[in-house]
Amino acid sequence: MSKDVLTLGIETSCDETSAAVVLNGRKVLSNIIFSQIEAHKKFGGVVPELASRAHLEKICYVVEEALKKANLSIKEINVIAVTNRPGLIGALLVGVSYAKGLSYAAKKPLIGVNHIAGHIYANFLETNFSPPFLCLVVSGGHSHLFRVDDYGKFKILGKTIDDAAGEAFDKVARALGLGYPGGPAIQKAAEAGNEDSITFPVAQIKGSELDFSFSGLKTAVLNYLNQQRQKGIMVKTEDVAASFQKAVVKALAENTRQAVMQIKADTLALAGGVAANKRLRQEFLKLSQDLGIKVHFPPVEFCTDNAAMIACAGYYYFLDGKISDFSLDAYAVSDF
Ligand code: KG4
Ligand code: ZN
Repeated sequence: MSKDVLTLGIETSCDETSAAVVLNGRKVLSNIIFSQIEAHKKFGGVVPELASRAHLEKICYVVEEALKKANLSIKEINVIAVTNRPGLIGALLVGVSYAKGLSYAAKKPLIGVNHIAGHIYANFLETNFSPPFLCLVVSGGHSHLFRVDDYGKFKILGKTIDDAAGEAFDKVARALGLGYPGGPAIQKAAEAGNEDSITFPVAQIKGSELDFSFSGLKTAVLNYLNQQRQKGIMVKTEDVAASFQKAVVKALAENTRQAVMQIKADTLALAGGVAANKRLRQEFLKLSQDLGIKVHFPPVEFCTDNAAMIACAGYYYFLDGKISDFSLDAYAVSDF
């Protein structure tokens, strides 16, 4: 396609209200993110109804700001892409309803985007990086290993059978009194801890070695904390945080190593909120050096939820002719 394509992305699947304008799927002209963390913090996690209401309150301003920052009017936008699955249903409905109204009023094609796919597409923002590659998507709701053969051509090689990696970070952080969101809090505490002080077990899943399981690890940390408290032993939060983080990172890296060997991948990529984790990046860098393959990490701002990645995905769906009609619905679960 020779003509430039400007995509407006809209993301409201969880606790970030975000809108972005991306040129030709790659160049980020704006990426406005309104985080609701403050509203949910006191409850120790995302409260779905509060999230929906906050999206409703902010969506118009966030989209307006994204257009303003890109120095564009809605007339100049070519495509509107919106996350329509998976996520909190009430939260998704705000974005989808808004995008439908805007698409109808401005007469622009509408594209429903899978949020997990969006995380993978974050790898293409502001770079020339391209498929094929092996991608580990680790977020608050998902832990998936994908073989990315081409744009829109993904095959799941492994996934979590219980908790997602981010969920484990959030639950352990809560038990340690580190607050929400847990990932960044654990990372920070871990910097002052000894990651070899406690050995936490990570489940190996018999028969499907590329799947993950983090609920046993979470329980092991909770049991350890209870046992130490019962014995009257003071727990060093930083050591627990560091040891837990090491266990998660090792499990993610081990399955990824297996997957690289299985499909003979020559390039590795990370995606999702947990991909912001410095210890995980360090381990993946080491893994890529050990295996003699390339590795790519999206900038941190594109790892956690944002609309630029949705606009990027929307652009490639658009090139593929995957345009949604006005019956576009929102779904809590993923279609893959
Ligand atoms: O992708 P994301 O923003 O939202 C979902 O799609 O779920 O991921 C959020 C998750 C949360 O569980 C959060 O604790 C985790 O990503 N996270 C991190 C870090 N930053 C965010 N986990 C570990 N280390 C981090 N630096
Ligand atoms: Zn996400």
